[in-house]
Amino acid sequence: MANNIKYFIGNWKMFGVPKSINIPKKINNFIKSDKNRGKYKVIITPPYTLLQSFSRFMKNKRIKLGAQNCFYKDPFSSNTGAISPYMLKNLDCKFVIIGHSDNRLEGDNEKIIKNKIRLALKNNLNVIFCIGENANQKRKNQTFNTLKKQLIRSLEKRFNYKKILIAYEPIWSIGTGKIQSSVNLLKTAIFIKKTLKNIFKTKKSIPILYGGSVEGNNIKKFKLLNEIDGFLIGGASRSSKNFIDIIKNYYR
Ligand code: PGA
Repeated sequence: MANNIKYFIGNWKMFGVPKSINIPKKINNFIKSDKNRGKYKVIITPPYTLLQSFSRFMKNKRIKLGAQNCFYKDPFSSNTGAISPYMLKNLDCKFVIIGHSDNRLEGDNEKIIKNKIRLALKNNLNVIFCIGENANQKRKNQTFNTLKKQLIRSLEKRFNYKKILIAYEPIWSIGTGKIQSSVNLLKTAIFIKKTLKNIFKTKKSIPILYGGSVEGNNIKKFKLLNEIDGFLIGGASRSSKNFIDIIKNYYR
C-alpha cells in the first residue's frame, strides 16, 4: 500500500438494507469520471447482512469491500452470532475494521484484538486497526500513552505491516462534530508513525487514517496534513452525496 495514496473508508455501522446498494453504485459512478481517481482508494464497510450482495456488485468495481469487525476464532466455531476472518475472506472482503471503540466498549480487549488482527492477516485481509483516547484521557494529557499501549499490546513485529492501516479515532470526536486541532493531529500522527516503526523495526511508513466527525465541510483542513493518509468516515458515509462531497472537497 503506497503511502501517497489516500483512503476514503465508509464505516456504515448499523445502517443499510439491500436497496442501499444505490449508495456504492452512485459513488462508483462518480469515481469512474473523477480526474483524481488515481490518487485514492474507496472502501465501504456495510453490516455483515449486506456483505454478500455488495460483494457481487463490487467485483471489478473501483470500490473495495470491507467488514466492520470479525471474531477472534477461525475458521469455524460454536460461538453464536460470530463471523470469522475466514468467512469474510470467502465473501471477497478485502478489508476489516478491528478495535473500533464501539467494540472495545462491548468488551474487546487488547488480547482479543490482537487475535483478531492475527487471524485477519492470516486470511490475507487488510486490517483497519482503530485506536484512540477518550475525553478523560485527553483531559489528563494521556493521549500518547493510551495510543502507545493500544499499539504495543495488539501488534507484533511478526505481523505483516504492509496489510495494516491505523485509524486514529479520538473517541470524543466520533459522531460529536468535534474535531482534533490540526497541530495536535499532526503531532499525534507523527507519534503513531514513530511508535509503529519501533514495533515493526522498519523505516517504512504505515498509513494513518483519521476518523471522527469527518464531513464535506471540514475535510479541507486535513489536506495540508501530509501525515494523514486517509479517513474513516461514519455518519457522512451513509449518503452518496455526503461521501462524494468529501472526496471532491478534499481535492478542490
Ligand atoms: P463519525 O464516525 O464519522 O460518525 O464520527 C467515525 C467512526 O466511528 O468510524
